[in-house]
Amino acid sequence: MSSTPCDDFLRWALPELRMQWPPFRRVRRQVCRRITARMAALNLRSFAEYRAYLEQHEEEWERLDTCCRITISRMYRDAPVFDAIRQWLPGAAERSSKPLRIWSAGAASGEEPYTLAILCRESLPANQADEVQIYASEADPHLIKRARRARYAEETLKELPTEWRQNAFVRRADGDEPYQLHESYRQMVVFRNEDIRHSMPPGPFDLILCRYVLMYFDEQLQLQLLSRISECIKPGGLLVLGKRDPEPIDDLPLKPIDRALRIYRRMATAGPRTPEVWPD
Ligand SMILES: C[S@@+](CC[C@H](N)C(=O)[O-])C[C@H]1O[C@@H](n2cnc3c(N)ncnc32)[C@H](O)[C@@H]1O
Repeated sequence: MSSTPCDDFLRWALPELRMQWPPFRRVRRQVCRRITARMAALNLRSFAEYRAYLEQHEEEWERLDTCCRITISRMYRDAPVFDAIRQWLPGAAERSSKPLRIWSAGAASGEEPYTLAILCRESLPANQADEVQIYASEADPHLIKRARRARYAEETLKELPTEWRQNAFVRRADGDEPYQLHESYRQMVVFRNEDIRHSMPPGPFDLILCRYVLMYFDEQLQLQLLSRISECIKPGGLLVLGKRDPEPIDDLPLKPIDRALRIYRRMATAGPRTPEVWPD
């Protein structure tokens, strides 16, 4: 595939943002469209001009960072992963020192943390589900706003089992996002506008999902973040990564319990990484 001016620009800029090259194969055109729109807003006519602008305006890097974020998400994305979490939940809720604490890192518009809230309500007795705390962190404040509004298009909900969709959402007649999540699910999730490169919510957590976030960062940053994330998990707790996220290195106290689903258990210390049978 031939290289476009935007590709050449990204090849230069992404390492500065500690992001990978080649990035986002399927959505590169969308990223380039966003950058071109930003250039137009600044009255800049070429990528060379934008590069010069970045070199003179330190604060513009943050805007570029926003343009490069991929925000695709869906409720119940990778269904077998949520099926596995559903099996794990009742035992974990029994074993955990109360409350059961879950963190969704890179939560987009709330699709992942709300899926967890729905799973908890569908798999736990009401008194246990009421106690679950779900933290959702997201770097983009606009997405947090959308998440708090909790209104979704049909497309976003298509993988959610029909009965759960009927229980959790009310269909409004109007607009592109006709499905409104009920209050009882919304109140289970605390959203935080937080960049995981700079801070993380206070642990420890029984379960952390960090899916399709680390894959965009450079290798060194991936390792640093995986190490910090693993410190936020209770011993015995779980980490779930996305299918295209990096594999944790052996030095980390994370043991794969389902390689295909990218589910890892936090060990007390780093050790041999032989897979185990789960849920126990
Ligand atoms: C591809 S989406 C994945 C969303 C969800 N985890 C899922 O699997 O469906 C990645 C999300 O992570 C967010 N993100 C990217 N970099 C981040 C960072 N440094 N800190 C927090 N969130 C970040 C993006 O804004 C985006 O909403």
